[in-house]
Amino acid sequence: MRETYVHGYHPRENERLQDQAGTLVDLLHSDTAYAGGNLVLEAGCGVGAQTVTLARRSPDARFTSVDVSVDSIAEAARRVERAGLTNVEFRQADIFTLPFDAESFDHAFVCFVLEHLARPVDALAILIGLLKPGGSITVIEGDHGSTYFHPDSSAAHAAIQCQIELQRLGGGNSLIGRQLYPLMVEAGLNAVRVSPRMVYVDSSRPELVDGFTRRTFTAMIEGIRKPALAAGLIEPESFDAGVRDLHRTTEADGVFCYTFFKGIGEKPRE
Ligand SMILES: C[S@@+](CC[C@H](N)C(=O)[O-])C[C@H]1O[C@@H](n2cnc3c(N)ncnc32)[C@H](O)[C@@H]1O
Repeated sequence: MRETYVHGYHPRENERLQDQAGTLVDLLHSDTAYAGGNLVLEAGCGVGAQTVTLARRSPDARFTSVDVSVDSIAEAARRVERAGLTNVEFRQADIFTLPFDAESFDHAFVCFVLEHLARPVDALAILIGLLKPGGSITVIEGDHGSTYFHPDSSAAHAAIQCQIELQRLGGGNSLIGRQLYPLMVEAGLNAVRVSPRMVYVDSSRPELVDGFTRRTFTAMIEGIRKPALAAGLIEPESFDAGVRDLHRTTEADGVFCYTFFKGIGEKPRE
């Protein structure tokens, strides 16, 4: 079964995912490295924004990266090749019908995917089935409810709420970050540890102002203007005011905060 993917597959969305990955590498990946010889399944690799970092940081591990989108897989493969990496194999596949044998991977990695799935616990359970006993799953998700900024703006919050609502209507959950711990435990993982990864942006960090506030978060909200209006969630003037106010937070006195959540759990040995 294929779940709805709210962000779509446009080149601009691909660029946004690349910017997101580039800016957040240290925050999200500094504690992820896999041992030589380990087989790692990356589920929902998209255009390879995380794949390159994963494969580069663990050059002696072997990655199998899958996504339901053929076009995204093709782009991811090009990126990995351009990066000169040879430890990644790509497969087009749906998480809910993965073509792999049980217990054939040492680890699994999932980033910004569960938020799009109506059945995230089922997806995790499928991945657990593909892990060897004692193997780990690493999950990274955002939580749009963790967004706050200065100057504050009810219009900006209303525009963000459109994204939350659209994702909910599509069967997803953009507030999933705060639920990682219970979801991972429910799926059957042991020793689950979740850590918040807060992005704090002010004008002393121009690369984050541009890479995160402007080109990642605000670009994502701008990208849902058409569906938000079509769904009757907001009036055009209010939406545009909200986007303007998000851009306002990128000025010299502006501040923007967002929290990602990273969870790691183990497959029980028995
Ligand atoms: C927001 S993107 C994240 C991509 C990548 N993990 C990253 O962090 O940049 C979500 C990806 O999940 C993929 N996806 C959604 N549902 C899926 C499913 N059921 N099976 C496999 N991939 C899926 C989408 O095609 C999309 O590429």
